[in-house]
Amino acid sequence: MNRRRFLISLLGLLGTTVLVSFVYPLARFLAPPGGEAKGKKVVIKRSEIPAGSAKDIVVDNIPSIVINVPDRGFIALSRVCTHLGCLVEYDKIKKRLLCPCHAGIYDLEGKVVSGPPPKPLQKFVLMVAGEDIVIG
Ligand code: FES
Repeated sequence: MNRRRFLISLLGLLGTTVLVSFVYPLARFLAPPGGEAKGKKVVIKRSEIPAGSAKDIVVDNIPSIVINVPDRGFIALSRVCTHLGCLVEYDKIKKRLLCPCHAGIYDLEGKVVSGPPPKPLQKFVLMVAGEDIVIG
């Protein structure tokens, strides 16, 4: 390979790199990740969540939780606090969802018990089909 061919190849490689560095972010902006996943159902096994316990899942790119509430059954809630968006944690002993940021407290239906959250947690449609729990 002579010098001229080498420089042409190098310029082609640089041009391709520059083009990709502009096109890729633009494509990601126009079709955000998970855009196609919106509305997809999440299926988990009932046996994964014994009574009184919970499992973290992701529904439509939203961090969420499925709780097996004794004497009520399963409920699926967003973990995103409605105050400023911190992720709430399930407290099995207190039977509450606690926000670590500003001490917001929700009951197991997602309703605000105390603290600054202005509205309840988002609730997801959930269906129990045999051994499966279908969320979303
Ligand atoms: S972000 Fe949850 S209480 Fe403020």
